[in-house]
Amino acid sequence: MKIISVVGARPEFIQATPVSRALRKHHREILVHTGQHYDYKMSQTFFDELGIPAPDHNLEVGSGSHAGQTAEILVRFEEIVLQEQPDVVIVRGDTNSTLAGALVASKLHIPTVHIEAGERSFDRRMPEEINRLVADQLSSVYFCVSQTAVRQLANEGITKNVYWVGDVMLDANLANRPLARKKSTILSDLRLAPASYSLVTVHRAANTDDPARLTNIVRALSRVGETVIFPVHPRTRGALEKLDAQFGDNVRLIEPVGYYDMMVLEENARLIATDSGGVQREAYFMQKPCLTLRDETEWTETVTAGWNKLVGVDVDMIVHEWNSFMPPSVQPPIFGDGAAGEKIAEILGQIQLSVHEERVAA
Ligand code: UD1
Ligand code: UDP
Repeated sequence: MKIISVVGARPEFIQATPVSRALRKHHREILVHTGQHYDYKMSQTFFDELGIPAPDHNLEVGSGSHAGQTAEILVRFEEIVLQEQPDVVIVRGDTNSTLAGALVASKLHIPTVHIEAGERSFDRRMPEEINRLVADQLSSVYFCVSQTAVRQLANEGITKNVYWVGDVMLDANLANRPLARKKSTILSDLRLAPASYSLVTVHRAANTDDPARLTNIVRALSRVGETVIFPVHPRTRGALEKLDAQFGDNVRLIEPVGYYDMMVLEENARLIATDSGGVQREAYFMQKPCLTLRDETEWTETVTAGWNKLVGVDVDMIVHEWNSFMPPSVQPPIFGDGAAGEKIAEILGQIQLSVHEERVAA
């Protein structure tokens, strides 16, 4: 089978590795990088570290408005699909690259496979919610990270070719953790002792593009009374500069880090606070208490399990939970067994693929 896999943003590179490795045992995979993320620290570093095969095509779309970026991917990706004539197109997650990939494939009557299907925040102000709703409507095969996602698809009338395989991010995490420990020097570079700091990431538009929310985050981090390591996403760097944000001396802003450094920073943090979907799940894999700087999350199972707490951007609540939040001692295996990539490749080799599956009423 000839498969086109679409990647474009940081988490998609990380998720691609376990799937590519498994797919390439039995199928021909063409990797298409849309160019949505392009800085070395947002893109190439992951290819170098994780040994992801070089993309067969890089669409080099760069940044833009939602419409502009999505439109560029649509036009350039359509050409590639027409040229390559794949049997299947794989998209993952909820980025503009996901949306455009699914739209192009679907209009060319090529079955679309959605990895990380069925996740919902029920907040349509999030661009990611729109992207995954549309991608799920257009896809023919669904690989779900959690049972909640399977149920959510069923609620929307999507029941055919839906598979719970677990999280490919867990595959990547388990496969790379020993290497990360061996290779990363980030703790000594930053002169950090294990458990002496907390780790923060922020990049959601709802936080970066709202000065009041971002100001609250700056204030809260400055008040927590602990060293905070904050690798700053380029979107957030721009927003903080615009705000002329002044952090307390306890907050150390650093450039985005590579995957190995990030794993070591996560593994040795006392606590993680984030608005990232990937980092919320990695906090769970690493058994770290997680505070989510959002009002809702797709990863509700981590909250139900008691390992993740939604704190929004309320300064007092963040500071209070920072110093008191304590997860339970047990952790249910929500995200599978770390073999999602293998399961995806196996299932794709077995099922009959067709486009435009019918929907049943919920
Ligand atoms: C995108 C995804 C989001 C995902 C995130 C992962 C969408 C709608 N959002 O958000 O779901 O969680 O990636 O990190 O697809 N920029 C650079 N260099 C880069 C990349 C981006 O400077 O290499 C800056 C640009 O100013 C750009 C901004 O970051 O406008 C936002 O980038 P974009 O890819 O549009 O969205 P993300 O916030 O990264
Ligand atoms: N990540 C990284 N370096 C950083 C910040 C994040 O390697 O400086 C990794 C993180 O470990 C996770 C992925 O990037 O694997 C998450 O991506 P991001 O937070 O950008 O997007 P989301 O998961 O929210 O879509």
